[in-house]
Amino acid sequence: MPDPIRFYYRGAVQEVRDAAPTQTILQHLREDLHCTGTKEGCAEGDCGACTVVLGSLEDGKLALKAVNSCIQFTPTLDGKALFTVEDLQAPDGTLHPVQQALVECHGSQCGFCTPGFAMSLWGMYLKQEGHGPSGRQPSRCQIDDALSGNLCRCTGYRPIIDAARRMVELPPAAFDRAALAERLRLLQRTHGFTYEAQGGRFHVPRTLDELVRLRSEFPSALVLAGSTDVGLWVTKQMRALDDIIYIGQVDALKTVTEGEGMLDIGAGVTLNDAYAAVCRHYPDELGEMWQRFASLPIRNAGTLGGNVANGSPIGDSMPWLIALGAQVVLRGAAGERVLALEDFYLGYQQKDLQPGEFVQALRIPLKRAALRFRTYKLAKRFDQDISAVCAAFAITLDGETVASARIAFGGMAATPKRAAGAEAALLGKAWNEAALQAAMAALAEDYAPLSDMRASSGYRMRAAQNLLRRFWFETRPENPLPAAAVNAFAVGA
Ligand code: FAD
Ligand code: FES
Ligand code: FES
Repeated sequence: MPDPIRFYYRGAVQEVRDAAPTQTILQHLREDLHCTGTKEGCAEGDCGACTVVLGSLEDGKLALKAVNSCIQFTPTLDGKALFTVEDLQAPDGTLHPVQQALVECHGSQCGFCTPGFAMSLWGMYLKQEGHGPSGRQPSRCQIDDALSGNLCRCTGYRPIIDAARRMVELPPAAFDRAALAERLRLLQRTHGFTYEAQGGRFHVPRTLDELVRLRSEFPSALVLAGSTDVGLWVTKQMRALDDIIYIGQVDALKTVTEGEGMLDIGAGVTLNDAYAAVCRHYPDELGEMWQRFASLPIRNAGTLGGNVANGSPIGDSMPWLIALGAQVVLRGAAGERVLALEDFYLGYQQKDLQPGEFVQALRIPLKRAALRFRTYKLAKRFDQDISAVCAAFAITLDGETVASARIAFGGMAATPKRAAGAEAALLGKAWNEAALQAAMAALAEDYAPLSDMRASSGYRMRAAQNLLRRFWFETRPENPLPAAAVNAFAVGA
């Protein structure tokens, strides 16, 4: 008999044998377990009504993270613990401080969004050091980030933000991490396994070798990482998926290593961990992009490898990766292949990925002293929004002369694409207004952007040119302007 999925929920190990491999955790909760506290709003990761917290072992240590259950498939729960709003109240009926604070601060009206807010707040509560009267207050920035994936249509956010501050002042609620880690240890598998139900197969390799073998054996299988793109193919496009190979349990893909001027980020590293690692080297340049990439629950699940492999023309990581000169490491039965990231994209939804290959890692150059680098995201909202235009510029100067220039945009072509003409217009020139004007004009030859619901072609071109000007304002040799002077979102602006 095929192996069941095993996960820890409400004090017991749950075994699942019959759920379709693409059943979502939300469907499993509501339809099979009849735990209906978790709600469905959008079914696409956008509203947070379905937020749950997952517990897992990462490098042997317990990690607890809020994710959107509406786009995660049930088999990805194997070896993890699932927490929902039903877990918060103590057995004697005492409300958890998160719930008590929401009550005291009037943080709920119709209540539809409330379980999701409660779980995002709980995710943050578990991270705060010290609770009770002496507990550390979360900063407004931490609160906004924790709630960046939750929408409320009727209460308004102020009372919910008040609750986020209040919850740490209330008598603390105990949470036994050691016991949970021990339970999870007992659930871990030493080898990969394949879950089969309702005509579908979900392969869960544990090692790189197992992944290589499975990928060769099933070259048309779908590689699944954080499911923040793929989940929507199922819930919104109603696509049926054949064999799935889930890479979320391959420890070798979850490493971040540094050496020889490069940062290697494995394809299984979450967006949040990947941006944290890159921002240690580029805090000023990439900090805002980290914060503005989707929402915390999406960044807790999605991977940088998935962003690159999906290769959406409006994805946010590719422009800055290309501007920095990053490489993508591909792996197949024949071994590794390393490409400049810009060469990976052949056309709309077309990548240089051979049958049987997968993305193993991204290799990102570390900062050189002479580098002037920025990336900018233009979208209608600060958090949780897709870019209309995303730009990245990286130049080095020799004295006042541009010695190297790499410029890449998202939202301007069918793929993330370098601006060859604008780069050529800058090379060897003084980094001044005249070179800037020439490069801005060249952008009109480099790109012919589309009009769509996010922006018109004319807007995109004008915005791209003006972003280049903003880059010049911030990096020109004389009188460079601080980010706050040219960026409405910058701290202190
Ligand atoms: P998955 O969904 O698991 O996979 C995506 C694609 O990549 C699939 O084709 C899969 O087969 C392939 N794939 C994944 N890993 C590999 C691998 N190792 N080798 C080969 N193929 C692989 N994107 C942005 O750029 N900016 C945003 O602000 C943003 N906001 C979002 C907000 C919401 C609400 C949602 C739902 C999505 C958002 N996205 C955004 C898109 C998405 O989160 C990213 O593209 C994410 O990085 C995808 O990673 P994943 O691990 O979830 O990929
Ligand atoms: Fe909206 Fe899941 S239901 S994010
Ligand atoms: Fe009604 Fe938030 S309380 S949507």
